[in-house]
Parts: sequence; C-alpha cells; structure tokens
Amino acid sequence: MRGHTIGALLLLLLAMWGGTMVSGIHGIADFSLKDHIGTGQPPAGWPMTGVLNSAGAIIFGHQMLAVLAALGILTLTVRALRSELPGPVRDGALIVGGLVILQFILGVTALVSGRYDIGVAHQMNAVLLLGGCCSSSSPCAGRPAARGGEMRQDRAVGTWLLLLAGMVFGMVVGGGHARTIGAGFTIQVWRPFTGFIPPLNAADWNQLYGLYQHTAQYQAQPIDMAQYKALFWPMFLDRCWGRLMACVFLLPFGYFLLKGRIQRKLALWLGFIFLLGAGQATYGWYMVQTGMYPGVVSPPPEWAAPHLLSAMLILLLLIWTGMSLRTPEPVPLEGASSLRGLASASVLLIWITMGFGALVATSGALHVYNSFPTMDGAWTPPGAFAQDPLWSNFVTNKGTVQFCHRLLATVTALTVLTTAVMGLRRRLPPALRDIFLLLALLVALQYVLGMATLVLGNNELGFVHELNAVLLFATAIAARHGLRGAVAAPVGALAAAE
Ligand code: HEM
Repeated sequence: MRGHTIGALLLLLLAMWGGTMVSGIHGIADFSLKDHIGTGQPPAGWPMTGVLNSAGAIIFGHQMLAVLAALGILTLTVRALRSELPGPVRDGALIVGGLVILQFILGVTALVSGRYDIGVAHQMNAVLLLGGCCSSSSPCAGRPAARGGEMRQDRAVGTWLLLLAGMVFGMVVGGGHARTIGAGFTIQVWRPFTGFIPPLNAADWNQLYGLYQHTAQYQAQPIDMAQYKALFWPMFLDRCWGRLMACVFLLPFGYFLLKGRIQRKLALWLGFIFLLGAGQATYGWYMVQTGMYPGVVSPPPEWAAPHLLSAMLILLLLIWTGMSLRTPEPVPLEGASSLRGLASASVLLIWITMGFGALVATSGALHVYNSFPTMDGAWTPPGAFAQDPLWSNFVTNKGTVQFCHRLLATVTALTVLTTAVMGLRRRLPPALRDIFLLLALLVALQYVLGMATLVLGNNELGFVHELNAVLLFATAIAARHGLRGAVAAPVGALAAAE
C-alpha cells in the first residue's frame, strides 16, 4: 500500500509539472494564438523557443501522466472506502476521489474549449488535489511534515528554507521594480532552461525587440532599441533570479535527501512547495504574454494580485517550515490562546490587504483620490458600483479598490497593533518580544508609507510600501509561529486572577 501511495503521488507531481509546461506553450489553444494577438499571426518562435518546443510531445506526456495518476489515486480511494479505516480518513478519501474526477472534467473541458479561465480552474484544482492527497485524512499519505512539534530538529535544513524565503523577498524586489519602471512585457519569450543566456549579438537583440514590438504597450508608446535595453536588463535579472531560486532549492534538496536528512513526509511537503514555485513561474509567464493581447498596456490587476498573493503563500510555507525545523518544540505559553488567535487574524488580514494593494497598484488607482482620510472630500467614492458585473468593481474600479484597500488597511493596522501591544505586555521569551516590537514598528511604518504614497501619488514610494508589506507579513508569520505553544489559562489560574 505504501509503495502504491508514493507511486500515485509521484505521478501526480509529474502530471502537474507537465501541466505547467502545457500552460507555458499554450497547449490548450493548440498554438492558434491569432484570437489573442492584435497583429493576427503569432510571431515565429513565440511563445517558447529552445529545448522544450515540441508541443505535441508535451501535451501527450501530460495526458498520459494525468491518466496514470488519476487511476492510481482512484484505486487508492476505492480501497480506502472499502476498508475499515476511521471515519475522517474515509471522508478524506471521498473528497480526494471527487477532486480527481473534477480535475479530469476540467482538464478535458479546457482542452476542448481552449478556454484559459477553465485552464486556471484546472490548475487550482490540481493544487487542492495535491493538498488533499498529502493531508492527514487522505487515502494517499500521512500528515504533511510541516506541522511543528512533529519534526526532527535540523537547523541547517531550516536555515536553507529561510534563505529561500529571503530569495522570495528578492523576487518581490525584482518584480516590484519591473512594475515601477513598466518593464513587465519586455521579454516575450519563455525559455525555462536556456533563458539565462543573455542576447549575445545584434540578431538576438533584434529578435527580442521585434517580439516586443508586437505588444500593445509598444504600439501605445514606441521606444527605441536603447530604451528597450534599459527595460530589458532589470526584467532579465528578475527572471534569472527565479532560475537561481530553483537551483538553490534543488541542489541542497538533493544533497539533504542523499544524506538522509529529509524524511519521506518532509520530502513530499517540500516537493509540493517546489511545485507551487514552478506554478508561480508559469503564472508569471502567462502574465507576461498578456502583453500580446490587444489593448493590454500593463499587467492586468486580475492577473497581478493573485500572483503577489500566491508568492506570499509560498513565503509563508517556507518561513513556517524553516522555523519549525529550527525549533520543532513549541514554547509552552499559558493563557496566550487569544493572543495566538489575534496573531493568526493579523497574518490573514495583512495578506488580504496586500491583495487589494496589488489591485490599487496595477489598476492605476494610485492616481485617483490623492487625499487622506477622505476621498476628495467624500468618505466613499462616487460610482463605487458603476461597473457591471458587480464583482468587477472590486477588481478594476479604481475608486472601489482604493476604498477597500484603505478600509482593510485600517482594520489590519489596528488588529496588528493590538496583537503587538498584547504580546509586548506579556512575559515572553526575549526573541519573541523583539519580534512583537518589530511588528509594531513595521505596521506603523506601513500605514505612514501608504498614506504618503497616496497623497504624493508617488510610484517609487509605492514600491517601498510594497517591500515593507512583505517584511510586515513575514514578521507576523514569525510572531504567530512563536505562539504555537500557546494554550488557554487553566481554569484555576483564571479564578485566582479574578
Ligand atoms: C497594513 C497596512 C497596509 C498593507 C499591508 C498594504 C499593502 C500594500 C501592498 C502590498 C501594495 C503594493 C502591491 C503591488 O505593488 O503589487 C500596496 C499598494 C498601495 N497602497 Fe497599501 N498597504 C497598507 C496600507 C495602506 C494605506 C493606509 C494606504 C493609504 C491610505 C495605502 C495606499 C496604497 C497605495 C496608494 C498603493 C499603490 C502604490 C503604487 O501604485 O505603487 N496602503 N499596499
């Protein structure tokens, strides 16, 4: 049973990896991009050149792996349902079985209809499926090893994961800088493995510049080769940073695995995080190629916000797992369960506020209502629900997204400050106290930076505000991690306190 389990999970991981390749080559549209590109025909060699350009082989490989993975998981599901396993495991098996069938239906529908939105749903369901397979009640595997307290201490492995978390921050620096200078659409090729080689001669430059000339951004505001090169290099370095991250993940991973320092469950969990990273990179490419769509002159908000939020989820998993490996035993903290709840709420609220911040930044809402606390004298923006359908107001209506971001930011800042003050008033280990102090400082700075960015309408300050948000998010995660051992005060202690 255990062998089958590992086999099914490996097949699922491989199928998901193949799926990201299919996305990258626009497999579901079978290369007929003429509907999407303003100029009619896709330019030669676009979107993918280099070693992995055999579309048919990639699509076929993905489908075969998907069939094998689905059969494996369904077999395990049926076995689990027919066994005497405890109720929750049987429920988990039912959910995983349902997800695998849904995954198949979504995949076939995406392929037949060639619709990207169904493709995205298919991608998301794959992540849920993998999560389900790794969960404690799944028919496939035990609980993911990321739960603190169940891990063996290994400071080196933990530090390596924290280094990767630092590299995610570096990626946000690169991505945020690219957004600030408007470089997002400059490299319209996807060469996952060979793209670290820069253009070496005039022909290379002409090919890249020629592709960029197909974008709506260029057509709206043409630039010459020298200006193109100035935009190209920051974007090129950002993408190379992503490749470096893959190496910094895979090489130590292989080393630790060979040395027996990573157990099976932890290996699966880390493989899952790696796949999220690969999905993030593919998603990034999707976002870049929207530059070829007519009228799209900068990365659309509905693409950019999920990109930032999923990067933050990867950051969370890396920090949490890294810290858990460094200090697997939670420090027991009596009477701190409400503080732990507040810390969890802080992490969640910061994350949601960041999502709306990304909508503000990418919808151009920085340049409307540049006053605080009112919005040009009013408390709510006029025409907040002017767009149809209603939900689109919360994504692309500049006034509405800015209002949501202000409101959420205020609730978030108050929650985080309360958490920090409560933490500082308790008797906590010194390192944890420092984290709460940092949390208070960063949230105050974040609010001030947000106000200044808005009132001055300053894009560069917005970039600093974005980076500070990531630091704030990471600090809130560290504070929440330090409270893992928090328990409610014993009843006797409460009575004595009264
Ligand atoms: C806890 C508080 C806050 C958090 C976590 C937060 C988070 C963020 C993030 C992550 C971004 C950038 C997203 C991106 O570039 O993709 C952003 C953008 C922005 N935020 Fe905030 N923010 C907070 C408070 C505020 C406040 C209080 C204001 C103003 C009253 C504000 C105004 C803005 C503006 C105008 C932008 C767009 C910047 C640009 O276009 O470059 N933020 N926020």
